[in-house]
Amino acid sequence: MKIFLDTADVKQIEVLLETGMIDGVTTNPSLIAKSGGDIKETIAAICDIVDGPVSAEVTATDVKGMLAEADVLSAIGPQVTIKVPLTKEGLIVCKQLSARDIMVNVTLCFSAGQALLAAKAGATFISPFVGRLDDLGADGMNLIADICTIYDHYDFATEVLVASARHPQHVVDAALIGADVITLPPSIIDQLYKHPLTDKGLAAFLEDWKQTGQSIL
Ligand code: G3P
Repeated sequence: MKIFLDTADVKQIEVLLETGMIDGVTTNPSLIAKSGGDIKETIAAICDIVDGPVSAEVTATDVKGMLAEADVLSAIGPQVTIKVPLTKEGLIVCKQLSARDIMVNVTLCFSAGQALLAAKAGATFISPFVGRLDDLGADGMNLIADICTIYDHYDFATEVLVASARHPQHVVDAALIGADVITLPPSIIDQLYKHPLTDKGLAAFLEDWKQTGQSIL
């Protein structure tokens, strides 16, 4: 499963790239606002350090406006993946961009029906927001399972990109289902490494080793 970093903070991206675990980056207007940077400069800076897909979201809601913004954002580099909302207009734009071999990430997906339409529109990625469904008391992972089943039935090329993850268990559940990608805020990636028994076991190993008085070097 690919792991994308869900942030527009270039410094955070630089730090986590060192783990070798990052396969791409997703941003959205809220993450760009949080970064405090200019969207075009920020996406360009991310593309300079990240090899994989970099999602940049349009902010227009009409077809003409989204296409104009997509032209500006995709000109930044070939790895720029245009994010469009899952609306009728967004999927019209998705179909036109995918026909031009521009990668498209269809975002704000909350139903399997929406995901079916996105695949038919030629989306490169579909981003179902599991955390926001969980927040309402639904089970966001059920949506991921339904989408993966539908996509498998019809051999759709669209990759399921699990978004709005809230904790490491979302990563495991997404992998158990067979999602293609999960996008994670830096905090969840850090949590993913952690287990109290690992810390406890390592401390015990090192304490016992210390008693030997030995050094490997
Ligand atoms: O990629 C989408 C993600 O940024 C949304 O996450 O936590 O605002 O639901 P959240």
